[in-house]
Amino acid sequence: MKLTIDGKQVIGEKGKTVLECALEHGIEIPHLCAHPHLEPYGACRMCIVEIEGMRGYPTSCTTPATDGMVVHTNTQALQNLRRDILTLMMLEHPSACLTCQRREMCEQYRPEAEKAGRTTGCHTCNNKDVCEVRALSKEIGLSDLPVPPQYRHLPLDRSNPCIDRDLNLCILCGRCVRICKHHHGWGVIDFVKRGSKTVIGQAFGRSLVDAGCQFCGACVDVCPTGAMADRYAKWYGKPDSSTDSTCMFCGAACALKLGESQGKLVTAEALYGDFPICVLGRFALPEFLNAPDRLRVPYVRVGKILREVMWEQALNTAAEKLKEFVGPGFALICDQTSLLEDRYLFRKFTRDVMKSPHYIEIAPDELGVSSLSTLPDGVKAAMLMGSFIDPAELKGVDLLIVQDIFPSALSDRADIVLPVAVFAEVDGTTHDGTGVPRPLRRACTPAGQTLPEWQIIARLAQKMDAAGFDYPSVEPVTQEMGIPEARLFSDRTEAPVPSLDLRQRRTHFRGHRIDAKVSALRELPLAVQSDVAAVPVAAVARRGEGFVILQKSEIAPNVHEIVIEAPHIAKKALPGQFVIVMTDETSERVPFTLCDWDEQKGTITLVVLEVGQSSRKLALTQTGDRLAHVAGPLGIPLEIKPYGTVMLAGGCYGIGAILLMARSLKQAGNRVIGVVEARSHYSHYYADKLSGVCDQLVQTTTDGSLGIRGHAVDAIIQRLKDQESVDLVVAVGCPFMMMITSKETQPFGVKTMVALNPIMLDGTGMCGACRVTVGGATRFACVDGPFFDGHQVDWEELRDRRVAYRNEEIDVVGHTAPVVPHPSGHRCQCV
Ligand code: SF4
Ligand code: SF4
Ligand code: SF4
Ligand code: FES
Repeated sequence: MKLTIDGKQVIGEKGKTVLECALEHGIEIPHLCAHPHLEPYGACRMCIVEIEGMRGYPTSCTTPATDGMVVHTNTQALQNLRRDILTLMMLEHPSACLTCQRREMCEQYRPEAEKAGRTTGCHTCNNKDVCEVRALSKEIGLSDLPVPPQYRHLPLDRSNPCIDRDLNLCILCGRCVRICKHHHGWGVIDFVKRGSKTVIGQAFGRSLVDAGCQFCGACVDVCPTGAMADRYAKWYGKPDSSTDSTCMFCGAACALKLGESQGKLVTAEALYGDFPICVLGRFALPEFLNAPDRLRVPYVRVGKILREVMWEQALNTAAEKLKEFVGPGFALICDQTSLLEDRYLFRKFTRDVMKSPHYIEIAPDELGVSSLSTLPDGVKAAMLMGSFIDPAELKGVDLLIVQDIFPSALSDRADIVLPVAVFAEVDGTTHDGTGVPRPLRRACTPAGQTLPEWQIIARLAQKMDAAGFDYPSVEPVTQEMGIPEARLFSDRTEAPVPSLDLRQRRTHFRGHRIDAKVSALRELPLAVQSDVAAVPVAAVARRGEGFVILQKSEIAPNVHEIVIEAPHIAKKALPGQFVIVMTDETSERVPFTLCDWDEQKGTITLVVLEVGQSSRKLALTQTGDRLAHVAGPLGIPLEIKPYGTVMLAGGCYGIGAILLMARSLKQAGNRVIGVVEARSHYSHYYADKLSGVCDQLVQTTTDGSLGIRGHAVDAIIQRLKDQESVDLVVAVGCPFMMMITSKETQPFGVKTMVALNPIMLDGTGMCGACRVTVGGATRFACVDGPFFDGHQVDWEELRDRRVAYRNEEIDVVGHTAPVVPHPSGHRCQCV
């Protein structure tokens, strides 16, 4: 079949659509709802084309290609129509960043998305790096919206394990619905409600678990926006690289695409999107491998204590001690979670070096449990490559060497502990449940000083003067074994069916409970009793004596107003001061600007923007909860005196933070102009409160949907250009907002104060964490600030210091979401 697309002759296969033929020949047609693994749908209409002899603008994803067809994909009429269609779509999508005039500067200053709760623009979107809508907007040149956009105010759904949903971002492309039906034929999720109220959800408002979700993650993987997100991985951004490898959690040996970011495994997806994988391969693997209690260094027992040592010392000690047990008094026990190459060398070592018949390989049962009840009679020294035996059975053992990934009761009892790298961290071969060899490829940096098992045993053998263990890499071992070339399965018929019954999933890996390391798994039903406690997130937030939250509400998307009982602070607070809050006894100590207080009622008010783990903990509290600690008031207050005309600029939490400053400056006789900025009209709040205390209130939005289009500084600069008097500018908001305000007022020579918000630890000037450079001198924001001359601040240094703990924050943020039991307790709701 021959057809012409944009003047180019192409050969199309019978049965293909126009879109498929075009894409196969490198002709790009914009599309959103179409996906290679899904049947055509024709919902988004981005892929419209003109076909000679055909009326209107057919969708290329649903139009079958026919012989002799002449197609045009990029005429002016099509470009205009696509822009109009995308504009309509963007009117219900938080798209202000796409139309922001400082977009490039913002991207440069903060290239990574902030870890917000709700997404209110690309700067807070976990999907930012790979968002298809964003890419399309750029391609089509969307820079303006004709009417104010709508925000749907849908609740953020963080109640399901593994998957977070912010359906305010959803463009109703239906990819998730189709893939769920296509993969399982169950249709766990679907379009629910009608007309403008349509959302993606589960029938009868059930949770994903109750609706029968298997957490294969296929819906997350095909979603073109950030509406569906992998809770653990979402803030890592686009992986730096990806590697195709094999899952070792069960015999299905699914082919995985492993994503790595800065050496760390962050994502694991099905390599072939047509084959769903199970919750272990899709969601559990990165969290399991990155668990904080991984064994990372070797240990040797000195008296009662296991001491951290270098590899050389650990191997020398092991070799010396093992020499005393050569013969049948030695046993080596492993299971099939060690690679084929590892097990080959274990056997060779036991036979040729230790001269023992006791090489014991345990086959795990269908839950992955490998266990050995007793050691062979007469065994006095044992090497255990995992935690498969009850330490009580080791009474007669004089030397115990444990080679493992996590500490256990066995490693506590061991004389030597050797830390190992496992499947996503090593090269080698495994085999699936039908005995076919499958390749394992190193996709990330092994944890700490861990080494592949084959390498440890080869080095140990060499230390014991054994010949035949001199392998420079794993390949010679594979060759020596004569393993035929291992291939990733590319067709489900080549590998066992994956364990897609959630309740029957494997529970153990190498003797360790998988759900003990992966918190979300503890919320999923399991056919066997779990001995691991459920995630206590909500309980932690409520525990302890502290400061009572009297009132709490989300006053704008992602912005929470919290009124706290704190009479001692309310008595002493002054405008511009801050408090340091610990939500629970294990929380970070975080500064929040005091927004208001009432000395009579003994209350203080904070406006909190959710941008990370600590603010998330605060955002998740409820009225009636107690905070573990609130210290303050701290910081030097803003000097309240007559200046003349003061412009108070506030952005995000800063809109609330300038309220008391405005009131006090006005009382001191100043003319106060409040200038507040937000991305869109729906993100503004406190307009009535600020109007009551300012002589004038100016609102700005980056998408132009309310007030002046642009940032607060645009309103300030306009006034300066009009030569109206401005004696002082005070800016409170995110560092980007304070930076652009300072940089753009500088040429006018107007004094500009900013309230800096670096990381703080003790808030007393002792720890130095809040160090900032102002005018070339080092200052501490907690005791010298928070107010500084914005023209003197080293903004790049401030940015770098704020992101210093980014990775640590990302690691914990996934655990802060409320994985709460569904009201039904995941039971049938018909009673
Ligand atoms: S995770 Fe899989 S089973 Fe669950 S809703 Fe998504 S596609 Fe369906
Ligand atoms: S959640 Fe994502 S995949 Fe599903 S309809 Fe919305 S945008 Fe499309
Ligand atoms: S089905 Fe088995 S091999 Fe496939 S992802 Fe799940 S645990 Fe891994
Ligand atoms: S891609 Fe064709 S209508 Fe969406």
